[in-house]
Amino acid sequence: MANYTSELPLASAPTLTLVHPTPNEKLEVWTENWKNWGTALSLKDYIERETHLADIPPTRDGGVTHWILTDPSLPPDARPILSFCESLRRRTFVSLPSVEVQEGIVHGIGSVFSSPAYRGRGYATRMLSDLGPILNTWQQEAGKSHFSILYSDIGKKYYANLGWKPFASSHVSLPSAASPATNGANVNKAEGVKLLYGEDLKELCELDESYLRNEVAKAAKSTHKPAQTVPPKDPPTIHGAISTGAPGSRVWIVFSRVFYGPLANAKSGNTLYILRLVVEDERDTDENAQKLKSVLQVAQAEAKEWEVSSVTAWNVSDVVKGLLKRTGLEHTFVDRENDSITSLMWYGEGRGDVDSIGWLGNEKFAWC
Ligand SMILES: CC(C)(COP(=O)(O)OP(=O)(O)OC[C@H]1O[C@@H](n2cnc3c(N)ncnc32)[C@H](O)[C@@H]1OP(=O)(O)O)[C@@H](O)C(=O)NCCC(=O)NCCS
Repeated sequence: MANYTSELPLASAPTLTLVHPTPNEKLEVWTENWKNWGTALSLKDYIERETHLADIPPTRDGGVTHWILTDPSLPPDARPILSFCESLRRRTFVSLPSVEVQEGIVHGIGSVFSSPAYRGRGYATRMLSDLGPILNTWQQEAGKSHFSILYSDIGKKYYANLGWKPFASSHVSLPSAASPATNGANVNKAEGVKLLYGEDLKELCELDESYLRNEVAKAAKSTHKPAQTVPPKDPPTIHGAISTGAPGSRVWIVFSRVFYGPLANAKSGNTLYILRLVVEDERDTDENAQKLKSVLQVAQAEAKEWEVSSVTAWNVSDVVKGLLKRTGLEHTFVDRENDSITSLMWYGEGRGDVDSIGWLGNEKFAWC
């Protein structure tokens, strides 16, 4: 990245503005932030991945917007990129007390990055302070935006000071393990559980959307507070597992393997994330515990197969906590203080903090 340090403006300079980077400027940023986020891949593969991810169904046609803080009077491709981030547009269901559930949009901010040469000068702060209000009306032709979200990897304070308040950020982790039903041979043969393939997910996602919509309506009604959820995207070709049995009584998980570093190295933090966990009847019973155990054992066996050290599910409900205890599976609960802190800026009335807004289905699938 070109170095303009000798002539850097103050972060408060009125000349600085948020604009969209050119293709070359995006390459410049990705080349820089590869060291932070891409080292599981070669630089070339990382850039290829980022370029590809910006042109897939959820991101193309304005699904993702890239932002840079710079002096727009300088020529594109020859101006300092003082700070960078992207916003990803997703659908939401929001219920304000006494109002029906409304469908809207939310922008999730990700990849907040300043080049090391420009850090500590307030540029990211300026970029985010400008961006918060912009996202209230950004792409409003696609829907109303009641709030924006982000997932902080630098603790709870920085973004809270800028208006994105921390919300529930806990997870439960289970170790990878060979499939007990088959002695590690083949998870396909486990009893009472069926693997989920791409073609199974469409129907479940539609059903799940109706579950989440109802939960939002129920929560707003019972707590008299606004409630929201960011429903899962259309299914990608990832897998999961579902207990056998009639609809309304099943337990299912949809998961994705995430690699941050070399395989089979616990330090890499490679994780099989449960993107969404559904207990259809939400009851803490032995029967449900058995179903949960079966689907989690599929996830553990998949983790083992892919040399990923753990299986992680975000913000599990009290019912799932009770069920987990009954399963007898080894697990640990973690309240995160530094990474993936789910954070929200509310554009409506009230304080907009964790005590005044219900965030339903606050699970890994909404991460950006
Ligand atoms: C985080 C980051 C974007 C901040 O950019 P910046 O332009 O230096 O930000 P500002 O000058 O506005 O704010 C600096 C403040 O950010 C906070 N901050 C930066 N990194 C932090 C970290 N790892 N943990 C906690 N706070 C941090 C500190 O309060 C810092 O103040 P200080 O310099 O007095 O300690 C930049 O450090 C960066 O790109 N880091 C690597 C990528 C990253 O972690 N991004 C955040 C993902 S959620």
